[in-house]
Amino acid sequence: MNILEALNSRFTCRAFKPDPVNKEIILKIMENATRSPSWANTQPWEIYIAGGDVLESIRDGYMESFKSDVPTDPDIPFMSDWPVQHQERMKELGIKLYKHLGISKGDREAIEASWKLNFKLFGAPIVIYLCMHETLSEWSMFDLGSLSQSIMLAAQEYGIDSAPAVNLVAYPKIIREEIEIPDELSLVLGIALGYKDIESSQNTFRTMRRPLDEVVHINGI
Ligand SMILES: Cc1cc2nc3c(=O)[nH]c(=O)nc-3n(C[C@H](O)[C@H](O)[C@H](O)COP(=O)(O)O)c2cc1C
Repeated sequence: MNILEALNSRFTCRAFKPDPVNKEIILKIMENATRSPSWANTQPWEIYIAGGDVLESIRDGYMESFKSDVPTDPDIPFMSDWPVQHQERMKELGIKLYKHLGISKGDREAIEASWKLNFKLFGAPIVIYLCMHETLSEWSMFDLGSLSQSIMLAAQEYGIDSAPAVNLVAYPKIIREEIEIPDELSLVLGIALGYKDIESSQNTFRTMRRPLDEVVHINGI
């Protein structure tokens, strides 16, 4: 697969088949993805990978917390005060996704079932947890973002789908109960990996992008 194909075929997969992902392939993805650039090659990432019984225990804990309405407590607080135009794009995403899924505005049960997929870890057999030292700045966060995309594109090469999700790190305590992660590391992002469930309408949804002439400002060429 060439890079443009990978960029254009990647999407956030919200329903995985339970089929396992070969460990050698996961390591190949990591080997390639960690070629990502970082500030002065600081490589600020620490990567924890969970599958098998470990991930099932995390999934159980997440489902239980979701069911009991336990407030989320991410290491990096979720942003609530988004600028208006960003709020509008988020709203548009929700409207389009629910329309695609055939969920009407007032159908709280169906909306909750779709939201719950996050806390089921999308049914993925593998979750990659990206961490960085708590003292690091936005610059290292930038490097983790770059690594994230590299992981997801490298996964595409192996026919593996992905979902980057902050909700996967919404309950860091549960993750820390199963995986030994030093206290001084912040859990930044989870990336679910696996093979998409082609039966799920969650996976036929595709997002749009802002038009280029709105986003790109060309000068002098
Ligand atoms: C940092 C980050 C956090 C995200 N968190 C979630 C999440 O918690 N749950 C979810 O369903 N999708 C999450 N997403 C996926 C975005 O909603 C998705 O990338 C966006 O709508 C564009 O769609 P696409 O990835 O299918 O192109 C996240 C994406 C990023 C980059």
